[in-house]
Amino acid sequence: MPGIPVLMPRARSHTAGTPVRRAASARFAPAAAPVIAIDGPSASGKGTIAQGVAQALGYHYLDSGALYRLVALAAMSATTSLDDEAALAACARSLQASFENGEIFLRGERVTDAIRSEDCGKGASRVAALPEVRAALLARQRGFRAPPGLVADGRDMGTVVFPDALLKVFLTASAEARADRRYKQLKEKGIDANIHTLLRELRERDERDSARRTAPLQKAADARELDSTGLSIAEVVYQVLEWHRQITAKVAGSNR
Ligand code: DC
Repeated sequence: MPGIPVLMPRARSHTAGTPVRRAASARFAPAAAPVIAIDGPSASGKGTIAQGVAQALGYHYLDSGALYRLVALAAMSATTSLDDEAALAACARSLQASFENGEIFLRGERVTDAIRSEDCGKGASRVAALPEVRAALLARQRGFRAPPGLVADGRDMGTVVFPDALLKVFLTASAEARADRRYKQLKEKGIDANIHTLLRELRERDERDSARRTAPLQKAADARELDSTGLSIAEVVYQVLEWHRQITAKVAGSNR
């Protein structure tokens, strides 16, 4: 996917669980800071869209998938079995992760690219199916909520982590369009890929993320569905910002 051709103010900087930048505005108590939840399947463009929306609004950004990828990476490098739920939950609780200027660190080591590997993605999908791991990451994710607001992307942002989100978006795209996007991303990075394998792996991951018992990938009843197949990044960001504008105007109107 190309860059986002919309006006972008500044990049945000975070430490997992402890957003380091707090806006001067104290209009919202942290717990009440508005949240835009963007959920959807793998490679639906959630991260790109969520970051674009966060930058346009000057909001904080939470990439919740990165937390599951970090747990998988930490576990794999400690040779912890990806079936050992108690050990993985302990790993999630003690995760020393930080997010700074778009870079991700694990115990101080830069792992921004390492966590995007297919191995880490598969590992993340396995650890994310474990209820104790999900419970261990819950408070950490909610800790990102701070004024002036948060854009959070994942699978259960609108259903479990931020059920009171101001705006919930369920971002989809056909499996073929998602595989094609991933294929182009990998090619751009000079990584060899096979479109048929990518499509099969995407479908397998969709199946695993949707079929699991705890916090499965599903559209919240009050989420707005947005199919990005055939839309540009700018068009999708615009639609989310437009929904946010409409809701904010309605809330302001009813408070008058
Ligand atoms: O969005 P992603 O591909 O980086 O997510 C990695 C894995 O983590 C994916 O298989 C689904 C899982 N995940 C999840 O279960 N819940 C979230 N909120 C975010 C990601």
